[in-house]
Amino acid sequence: MTGITARKSVAVTHRTATAAASAAVDVIEALLHSGGLRTLGVATGSSPGPVYREMARRQLDLSEVTLFALDEYIGLPDGHQESYRAVVEREVAHPLRVPPARVHVPDGADPAAYDELIADNGGIDLQILGVGRNGHIGFNEPGSSFDSLTRVVDLDESTREANARFFGSLAEVPHRSVTQGVRTILNARRIVVVVSGVDKAAAVAAAIDGPRTEAMPASVLRDHADVTWFLDEDAASQLRPPARDGGDA
Ligand code: GLP
Repeated sequence: MTGITARKSVAVTHRTATAAASAAVDVIEALLHSGGLRTLGVATGSSPGPVYREMARRQLDLSEVTLFALDEYIGLPDGHQESYRAVVEREVAHPLRVPPARVHVPDGADPAAYDELIADNGGIDLQILGVGRNGHIGFNEPGSSFDSLTRVVDLDESTREANARFFGSLAEVPHRSVTQGVRTILNARRIVVVVSGVDKAAAVAAAIDGPRTEAMPASVLRDHADVTWFLDEDAASQLRPPARDGGDA
């Protein structure tokens, strides 16, 4: 596997989303087995799904690991199956044997407490991240300050429309959420970005090859010393040619 050495971030392209997820799990598994994975930041959404399924297939035991969700909707009834707490419990905690007491989700009533809780747990060792079609990370929509901490935000209409597929209708998608801030995300020691699908290609190219700008939140990831992008061919399809080298072809 080769990557891009001219850039700070490394982008690795795989033929399929499954292969990209498997490569991402190689990194997570190595960190787990070295004892360096005490805290794991978990994104929800379609892109990281194959990562969690592959972790479960390998029977990784995360019973000693503490999970920190990246974000959460505001306004869903307790226990709603599309709340990110429910998604993290169902897709990550349960299959990977993380006890409920080790699953943390930001609370819109006290967002700042989340940054304190993360710090009290020694920071996040590895953050799994997806990217929205508009380049959002977590629910940090375009225009979010690169210095932001965990806070309540309004969702872009384009994000509500993109996420409506998880709900019965667009009207059921909340308008607000609580999200780790951009700075909170950058504070993680290591970041693994998993993106698949042609509808993300423009955002991926802008984030990796375009200007570093708050208009494209994912472009801030180049500030981080240890970030790896795991892409399928569709998501990588608009990158400048050198970034498409490597991977499993
Ligand atoms: C969602 C989530 C993000 C996620 C992103 C991409 O709105 N809040 O945490 O990374 O958008 O999701 P998907 O992979 O489903 O496209």
